[in-house]
Amino acid sequence: MNLIKHSLAVLGMIAAPAFAAGQVSISIDAGKPGPVINKNVYGQFAEHLGTGVYQGMYVGSKSNIPNTKGWRNDVVGALKELHVPLVRWPGGCFADTYHWRDGIGPQDKRPSNVNGGNVDEINAVGTHEFFDLIDMLGAEAYVNGNVGTGTVQEMSDWVEYLTADGGSPLARLRAQNGREKPFKVALFGIGNEAWGCGGNIKPEYYASLYRNYENFLRAPDQSRPKMIASGGSGFDTSWTDVLSKELKGHTVGISVHQYTIPGGSWEVKGEALGFKEDEWISALANTLKMDQLVKDHVAVLDKNDPEKKIGLMVDEWGTWYDEKGAKSALHQQNSLRDALVAALNFNIFHEHAERVTMTSIAQMVNVLQAMILTDKEKMVLTPTYYAFQMYVPFQDAKTLPLTIKDNTSYTLGAVTIPGVSASAARARDGKLYLALVNTDPSRAVDVAVNVAGTKVKGAAGKVLTSAAMDAHNTFQNPQAIKPSAFSARAAGGKLPIKVPAKAVMVVALEE
Ligand code: AHR
Repeated sequence: MNLIKHSLAVLGMIAAPAFAAGQVSISIDAGKPGPVINKNVYGQFAEHLGTGVYQGMYVGSKSNIPNTKGWRNDVVGALKELHVPLVRWPGGCFADTYHWRDGIGPQDKRPSNVNGGNVDEINAVGTHEFFDLIDMLGAEAYVNGNVGTGTVQEMSDWVEYLTADGGSPLARLRAQNGREKPFKVALFGIGNEAWGCGGNIKPEYYASLYRNYENFLRAPDQSRPKMIASGGSGFDTSWTDVLSKELKGHTVGISVHQYTIPGGSWEVKGEALGFKEDEWISALANTLKMDQLVKDHVAVLDKNDPEKKIGLMVDEWGTWYDEKGAKSALHQQNSLRDALVAALNFNIFHEHAERVTMTSIAQMVNVLQAMILTDKEKMVLTPTYYAFQMYVPFQDAKTLPLTIKDNTSYTLGAVTIPGVSASAARARDGKLYLALVNTDPSRAVDVAVNVAGTKVKGAAGKVLTSAAMDAHNTFQNPQAIKPSAFSARAAGGKLPIKVPAKAVMVVALEE
């Protein structure tokens, strides 16, 4: 900017540039609580893939890395801070080659390398070990069964082993293996990606298979898991359509998988770090498509299931980058951009809380958009971890109507996306929380918050931002990016909040 222009700008005499941060107005109605955000929207996914389970989380009880029943104390401790509500296990595509009997009984007698997954599967983590993790986290279990290479008998036996009490032979086998009481399985998935790795079949055929499997998944009424049907991918609603017609009364949810791929294709997915601004905006624009995707699937559900008995379970979502030089399968770094991807998705899921009753990010540790990265005994928390931590109050909170007026827009080349994304809810602790995302990597934005139905004095919470778009934590510098404290005071009935460029913010409003 030359000197004259600079002086005029200082005097406020230059018209605001097209994408300057104006004042964005956010109105929240605290008097009209809407649907509850099911805590399981913050679910996680732990697949036997790369170092996602072995090394990343499970090191075995004889390891020098401090552990409890083989699970790393550092990792479990960090995950507990996220109040992880639900864990999906053992896959993904792995689930459709997994035979549960390989993972029970004495660990040293279990077979190795039998499943054709992406790791040499040693089966040290099986049913009992998974439930040790679930107990330590205080989470619910979402077990995914094998349709691809399994049988109805095998799946039926697994559900009996998991849930039967007393007299059944499989309950006795479970007791012999150290667990008298049935396990509590909240959700049970019948297959995974049946259109691809899980069978390469058509939705009509899968629907018939599902009915057949589900018919034999017998368990005492009080401990019968709720069944999830494996649905389609992305914007293809044909699976949701067929399954919501065919499986009424037999499923509580149909899954859909949608990943954020900044490069725009599976061949060129883009880099996790060192990307330019075009891949910043494309990642966020790609993520924001989740809103339309959910709307499309929900429109089909509304047509076929007006009673709203079937949820839309986005049980795989998150960033997926090129794997060049990855330390292990699907291992990728995680930056500030990933935290924005997570927060934008959360705000979208909240918006559709009535139908989106469970999601699980892919994945928990060392795989894709992970919370945590490990290297031998070292552990680092990612920006995505912090996004999940900041959003904890939204678990089981009641959504509040929120409107954004005069939103900024952020443009690069031919791509324009909204500058601000926001969500508000009344949490179980009684407080009113507001989440804000500023997608613009260069400009802060001034937001004026107005809340009807209550008087707001101020706000206090956390903001996650950094100078670099790809700010990330490493084992050498594990605290390079972490949230910092933020507060604001209300004046004249409005609460002014300045959201820094490229930031995720969650504040509790003081009433
Ligand atoms: O999350 C990684 C893989 O992506 C899962 O195994 C599969 O379901 C999906 O294609």
